[in-house]
Amino acid sequence: MHVLLLGGTGSIGSAILKELITHGHRVTALARSDRSAAILSENRAIPLPGDLVCPVDWAHAAAEVDAVVHAAADFDTDMGAIDRAFLEAIVAAASGRRTPLRFLYTGGCWLFGETGQEIADETMPYDPLPSFSWMLENWDWLADAPCIAPILIHPAMVWDELGGVLHRYMEAAWNGRPIEIWGSPDVTWPLVHRRDLASAYRLALENAPAGETYCIAAETGVKTSTLADAVAERAGSKHPHSVLSVEQAVTQHGDWAAGPALVQRMSGEKIVRDLGWNPLIEDAAGLISGLNQGSPGFQ
Ligand SMILES: NC(=O)c1ccc[n+]([C@@H]2O[C@H](COP(=O)([O-])OP(=O)(O)OC[C@H]3O[C@@H](n4cnc5c(N)ncnc54)[C@H](OP(=O)(O)O)[C@@H]3O)[C@@H](O)[C@H]2O)c1
Repeated sequence: MHVLLLGGTGSIGSAILKELITHGHRVTALARSDRSAAILSENRAIPLPGDLVCPVDWAHAAAEVDAVVHAAADFDTDMGAIDRAFLEAIVAAASGRRTPLRFLYTGGCWLFGETGQEIADETMPYDPLPSFSWMLENWDWLADAPCIAPILIHPAMVWDELGGVLHRYMEAAWNGRPIEIWGSPDVTWPLVHRRDLASAYRLALENAPAGETYCIAAETGVKTSTLADAVAERAGSKHPHSVLSVEQAVTQHGDWAAGPALVQRMSGEKIVRDLGWNPLIEDAAGLISGLNQGSPGFQ
């Protein structure tokens, strides 16, 4: 397939790019700077100069591809409006296509709010953090748009060897500071390694029926205190983790900080069952602390 990728230099999108290229897809990727274009070229994508905020410059490309994978965000306060404006431009470019444009839209586990002991899946009603509710409004609009075959992906918290959602923990531990957990030590995160997440996107791109939603989690729920202690052990840090209340975290870092303070569980069972997803990396804490380096797929 020829895919237009938005966010191809990001934490999620860069893994998707590698996965798609490895599996023989052709990828045109939006680049808002020379630096992003160079990274995309190095990874065998065709850079498409343009910025999300100015879709008139690039949305025409949607007329020429088989699919769009949208994994771009700048966490700006206007992101909801920016997102809607470029969705509208893409839909306009796709109008009159002979075949619908496949469109993978990225949501996320924070759209389910605090799940507590319950395990979120595709049947659970949404309860989004207010600062992310625009994603659901924009998805609803996209799902009704003509000429679009929409698929919604909800990644769990995404990690990798350099950090991802664990970057803040790693930075603290390697710099000799205590790791700060937000919310409480009982906060749990559903997790997925970004390479496994990328394989889920590819499977959905290639095989998902239009209109489907998939939650992508390899580990249902891991305590953040377990993760923090694993990172500290690996870094040789003797500092015990500390806890910042959700109110303090939001005051210091902004509204998004309520996300990592949610007690969440989420299941990836549907994509395993329906599309044969097979996550290879399922023990983040063990792998990070160095106790389980033999796990398949972890390098
Ligand atoms: N990471 C997670 O754990 C996680 C979990 C669930 C859901 N999500 C969702 O997944 C999406 C992607 O997250 P991420 O963590 O991969 O984000 P990220 O690492 O911050 O990457 C964002 C990407 O968007 C691009 N971008 C941002 N603003 C742009 C603009 N104005 N014009 C063109 N490109 C622009 C960036 O390009 P540059 O390289 O040029 O900056 C980068 O490629 C977000 O919607 C996020 O909410 C993430």
